[in-house]
Amino acid sequence: MENRIKVGVLGCTGAVGQKLIALLENHPWFEISEVAASENSAGQKYSDRVNWKEAKPIPENVKNLTIKNCNEELDAKILFSGLDSSVAGEIEEYYAGEGYAVVSNSKNHRMSEDVPLIIPEINHSHFEIINVQHKRFTKGGFIVTNPNCSTIVMVLALYPIFRKFGLEKVLVSTMQAISGAGYPGVPSLDILGNVVPYIKDEEEKMQTEPLKIFGEIKDGKINFADFTLSAMCNRVPVQNGHTTSISFKTKKPATKEAIIKSFGDYEHLGLPFSPEKVVQYFDDPARPQPALDLYNGNGMTVSVGNLRECNILDWKMTAFGHNTIRGAAGAAILNAEYLVKNKYIK
Ligand SMILES: NC(=O)c1ccc[n+]([C@@H]2O[C@H](COP(=O)([O-])OP(=O)(O)OC[C@H]3O[C@@H](n4cnc5c(N)ncnc54)[C@H](OP(=O)(O)O)[C@@H]3O)[C@@H](O)[C@H]2O)c1
Repeated sequence: MENRIKVGVLGCTGAVGQKLIALLENHPWFEISEVAASENSAGQKYSDRVNWKEAKPIPENVKNLTIKNCNEELDAKILFSGLDSSVAGEIEEYYAGEGYAVVSNSKNHRMSEDVPLIIPEINHSHFEIINVQHKRFTKGGFIVTNPNCSTIVMVLALYPIFRKFGLEKVLVSTMQAISGAGYPGVPSLDILGNVVPYIKDEEEKMQTEPLKIFGEIKDGKINFADFTLSAMCNRVPVQNGHTTSISFKTKKPATKEAIIKSFGDYEHLGLPFSPEKVVQYFDDPARPQPALDLYNGNGMTVSVGNLRECNILDWKMTAFGHNTIRGAAGAAILNAEYLVKNKYIK
C-alpha cells in the first residue's frame, strides 16, 4: 500500500463513482484514500450514505472512509471525477488549480482547447497539451477527460478504419442502456417496455468529440479531423451496455476482409486495464449483444459484428461496449495509468 499512489473519487456515491470504487479495488498502482461528493453526503461514513449498486461488496478500505465536500483539501494525488455535469466544471478546475491531476468522466472540459480528450489506444499523443494548462494551473495540476460513453464505443470501432482508409461520412443510431443516465436515472415507468428517442446533448457529443479524438497535434493545438457525422440516440430498456449501429463511407476503397483485419491493428499498451483485444470482431451476424458481450475483455473490449455493405454509405456494422466500464470508469483508470507510466504524474 505504501508504494501505491493515493487517489480520490469525486462523485463517489453516483453510478460512475461506484464503478470507479469497485474497479480500483486491488489496483496494482492506485489506492483510494479519499471519497467526496455533495454537501448532502459530506461528513457521513461511505457505507452509511451510499446506495451501493455494484454486485461485489464495498471494498474494505473504502467503506469506513468519511465522505468529504468537494471544496476540501484531499490527501490524494489523482482525483477521478464522476461528478454530475452541473457542478463538475467548477470543481474540477478548483482541484486542478490546487495541483491535483483530475481525470474526468464529465462533459464540461472535453472540448476545451487545452484539455486532452483521450482514448489512449487512439490518441495518447494528445496528452502533451497538458503542458498548455500549466499556464492557468500554476501548481502543476491539470484536467484530462475521456469521451462520452457512446462516443467511446463508436470511435474504437471506427478508428482502425479511419487510419487505414479515411472516413468521409458516418451515420450512427444508438441503443443506450439505462445506467448511462446515472442513478436513479430514468424512471422505470418511462423506460420499461419502451424506447425513448432522445438523450439530452448526446447527439451533439457523438458528432463533435470524434473529430477532436481523431485530430492531430500541431504547434500545441489539436487540429480536428475532417469528416461528417450524424447521430440518433435512443434510450432502451437494457441495464448496461450501449449498442451502436454505424454506417460509414470511406475515403479510399476498402474490402470487408481488410476492414475486419484492421480491427486487430491496435497496439497493446501494456497497462493494467488494457484489454487483450481492444476490438473483438464476431463472425456472426447476431453479435454483439448486451446479454452476451458486456464483459468481453473485463468490460474494456468493444465488440463489433455484422459488417456488411450499405446501400447508402459504403458499409454498416454493429459496435457494442460497457458504458460504465469502457465508456466511463475503466476509460478514466486507463487514462490515469497511461499518465503514470509516461511520467505525467510522478
Ligand atoms: N453513467 C454513465 O454511463 C456515464 C458514462 C460516461 C460519463 N458519465 C458522466 O459521469 C458523470 C457522473 O455520472 P453518473 O451517471 O455517475 O451520475 P450520478 O449517478 O447522478 O452521480 C452524480 C454524482 O455527483 C455528485 N454531486 C451532485 N451534485 C454535487 C455537488 N453539488 N457537489 C459535489 N458532488 C455532487 C453526487 O453526489 P451526492 O450523492 O452527494 O448528490 C453523485 O456522487 C456525469 O457527468 C455523466 O455525464 C456517465
